[in-house]
Amino acid sequence: MIKVLFVCLGNICRSPLAEGIFNHKIKARQLEHVIESDSCGTSNYHLGKQPDHRSLACAANRGVLMNHLGRQISTKDIETFDYIIVMDQSNLQHVRRLIEQSGLSHSRLHLMREFQPDAAHGDVPDPYFGDERGFEEVYDILDESIDHLLDRIIEEHGL
Ligand code: 4NP
Repeated sequence: MIKVLFVCLGNICRSPLAEGIFNHKIKARQLEHVIESDSCGTSNYHLGKQPDHRSLACAANRGVLMNHLGRQISTKDIETFDYIIVMDQSNLQHVRRLIEQSGLSHSRLHLMREFQPDAAHGDVPDPYFGDERGFEEVYDILDESIDHLLDRIIEEHGL
């Protein structure tokens, strides 16, 4: 199995939405027996919690299911996952620090928007303190980025 981990701060808005969209796309491409994904947060704010209702609604509107409970990233994740995809610079710093402190290395740690063509390679904005429009914006960023992330994985593994 090729394992992909999506990381944000709370693991209730962006990363579980990324996981839902990713899983939807790998099913559509009939790759669910080869690739799998999970998500987590850098914080412990929402352990065991359902995704934010605004992420759930946004996904449901587009026919995407989300099935995830909040959890926090750990050293084991660094060893387990082939790809670690973070939403913003703050997440990136957190994961880099975790890798360094653990004495591990990781060759496929990426910002999500590296995969979005023509994006300024910025952050996936944190929608938590905003309104529904922020979640729609996040969805569109993730949808486009993940298409290209999947293309990259398929290319790198000759699928
Ligand atoms: P996420 O959004 O990192 O996309 O899940 C957030 C969720 C919760 C909080 C911040 C961001 N919070 O501060 O509780």
